[in-house]
Amino acid sequence: MASVAEAVKIHSEPKAANGIRQGDCLSLLQSLDDESVDLTVFSPPYDSIRDYNGEWAVDLSLLGSRLFRVTKQGGICAVVIGDGTKDFAKSLTTFSLAVDWCREAGWRLFECCIYRRDGNPGAWWSRRFRVDHEYILLFLKGKKPEKFDKTPLMVPSKHAGKIYTGTDRLTSGGFKRIKPKPVNAMKCRGTIWRYATSNTESNKLKLQHPATFPDKLAEDLILCFSDAGDLVLDPMCGSGTTCVMAAKNGREYIGMDISPEYCAIAGERLAKELSQPALSLSAAPGGG
Ligand SMILES: C[S@@+](CC[C@H](N)C(=O)[O-])C[C@H]1O[C@@H](n2cnc3c(N)ncnc32)[C@H](O)[C@@H]1O
Repeated sequence: MASVAEAVKIHSEPKAANGIRQGDCLSLLQSLDDESVDLTVFSPPYDSIRDYNGEWAVDLSLLGSRLFRVTKQGGICAVVIGDGTKDFAKSLTTFSLAVDWCREAGWRLFECCIYRRDGNPGAWWSRRFRVDHEYILLFLKGKKPEKFDKTPLMVPSKHAGKIYTGTDRLTSGGFKRIKPKPVNAMKCRGTIWRYATSNTESNKLKLQHPATFPDKLAEDLILCFSDAGDLVLDPMCGSGTTCVMAAKNGREYIGMDISPEYCAIAGERLAKELSQPALSLSAAPGGG
């Protein structure tokens, strides 16, 4: 692994895009222009679920306002987050954040998707369920998403090629006969997105960070909500997953992290993975 100073230096140019910036994102965000970011994709530390390289207390409420300022009209901010459990009760961190950002920061909730995690541990819990999901909160600035292309996220139709017939229910309660038509091979993804955890990606460098999300999750969000050349931000980039996937897909990127060690991992991943052909990604198809 490159030294911290080396890797951060390679990938940090204070004003330019395509860099990793080390520091508290609440301060670093102040250096970005108003309405300069097309898409933000990130996952904050929540409910002390993981032991990070330091004890970071983040003001998520303030973060919501700062991200709102730098986001373009029609831009999306995707937050991958879950709830801790204490004394058999959920923390409600996810739901509090959603309500707070919409009421106080100006965001509107475009969708709340479920990130269904395959390969999640916890089967030994005897008095509660094994938690195998997190949420993907999709916040929207403005009236409608400026970029939205769900084509790359289509999933195979279970009944492809069969003839769809029968009846549709009307709002009046009655029925309408459907004109028979063949079922398309692919269909629109639903709100449950399914991925294998990062452990299956066989990326030793990435796994030096304790809490990463899958490359494909970041890539799907980037392909759906941004165009080539757009600026993608991850204010808590950890091992640099969002930045790597943004760069691989022809987007500009800015990554920020408070930890010099994680910035070094992100810098090293960018150097290594961008000079390599695309990884074969291990995502199960999305639900829907
Ligand atoms: C869940 S991890 C992100 C992992 C990332 N999505 C990935 O795939 O590698 C959260 C990150 O937030 C960083 N962090 C915590 N507080 C921060 C702050 N105030 N400013 C910037 N980064 C912060 C931590 O160092 C940690 O790397």
